[in-house]
Amino acid sequence: MSNADLVAKADNPVLAPPGLEGVAVAETTIGDVRGEEGFFHYRGYNATVLARECSFEQVWHLLIEGELPDPEQTKRFRADTVRLRTLPEQVSRLLPEIARIDPFVPLDALRTAVSLVASAIGLQPTMDISAEEVRQQAVRMTALVPVLLTGLYRAHQGLEPVAADPDLDYAASYLQMLTGERPDEVHARAVEKYLILTMDHGFNASTFTARVIASTGADMGSALVGAIGALSGPLHGGAPSRALHTLDEIGTEDRAYDYLKEKVISGERLMGFGHRVYKTDDPRSTLLREVALQLGGEQAQFAEHVEQTALQVLNELKPGRRLYTNVEFYAGVVMNTAGIPRDMFTPTFASSRTVGWTAAICEQASHNRLIRPSAVYVGPPPPRPLPVGYHYV
Ligand SMILES: CC(C)(COP(=O)(O)OP(=O)(O)OC[C@H]1O[C@@H](n2cnc3c(N)ncnc32)[C@H](O)[C@@H]1OP(=O)(O)O)[C@@H](O)C(=O)NCCC(=O)NCCS
Repeated sequence: MSNADLVAKADNPVLAPPGLEGVAVAETTIGDVRGEEGFFHYRGYNATVLARECSFEQVWHLLIEGELPDPEQTKRFRADTVRLRTLPEQVSRLLPEIARIDPFVPLDALRTAVSLVASAIGLQPTMDISAEEVRQQAVRMTALVPVLLTGLYRAHQGLEPVAADPDLDYAASYLQMLTGERPDEVHARAVEKYLILTMDHGFNASTFTARVIASTGADMGSALVGAIGALSGPLHGGAPSRALHTLDEIGTEDRAYDYLKEKVISGERLMGFGHRVYKTDDPRSTLLREVALQLGGEQAQFAEHVEQTALQVLNELKPGRRLYTNVEFYAGVVMNTAGIPRDMFTPTFASSRTVGWTAAICEQASHNRLIRPSAVYVGPPPPRPLPVGYHYV
């Protein structure tokens, strides 16, 4: 389309549906979600297969470099990302100050710290640097997010940060930096599967936000801060801690049916059920159920009972709505069993989603066109004259 055609189109914009539902706004090679099929993929590979068969680093490489690494590339990528886990001294010094903000909200603290680190390491506008430099910055920021998050969390508790252990991969290192203890391998692998499953999920609101900011040519830090802001909204960041709260409130199996029925009858939504895109089983919930049950414990068994009861209640009271278990329901159980505190559930999600955000920023920067839609003006007809006698005060 010629520039003149584009300008003519901009003067007569087509009104997209609210929420841009059903509107594609870009082409991407990163991945996609097929809601009717209950399938999502990263660069063509079934994401649940990747979570089962690959390490965090292999899938991170796939998303940021475009291809699955061979063993030699994996070794190099792992070594490179381990080296990038060091915070600039001036940021380390300031983390306890950020953590002192009352009330302490870990995701808000991360948003502030990402902005700080972006300035401290001198991230330049993506427009002014090469695609390779953008990619290097993407990997560095992704490697630093767990260090920031765990450092902030520990500082808030009056604890010293735990240095990243170079022998541990992303997931195990995250757990170790958070708890101060070398994690059980089974727990680390369970969390790794969760992290892989949540790296990316189509053109979601935070990814779109990151791309809009990147499209202005701004630096990677600005795009990540915007993405974290978008994720913090309750309609997006999800609420694995709320699903766990439901389990706590129910308490015992015999109370599940009446509790859940009452909630739905009173118009409340059952946390961890329903999805805007998936109209069949959410593949993430299927794998996380399996992971939770493999980890074992009373909570996982209880969760399975509550899940079955909730599906029965939804079927009875909301027939035909196609409501299934979503990613949030078992995510909380898995993270809780692995020792991640509840207020770190959404920040942990932000940590893995940074892989998807940075991949999207790299893609946007490499084929950039400023994202600048229009709106249909529906206010009083212009041009309006100023009211008679109205003047500067
Ligand atoms: C995720 C969610 C926002 C998607 O909602 P949506 O696509 O906009 O669905 P709608 O609002 O169109 O709901 C369609 C119907 O299903 C019902 N419904 C949807 N999710 C429900 C839930 N979790 N519990 C009970 N009823 C639910 C709605 O009340 C509505 O019923 P109605 O036809 O009688 O009015 C919604 O399912 C929800 O709020 N789930 C609970 C929160 C949650 O688990 N969030 C994490 C998502 S990953």
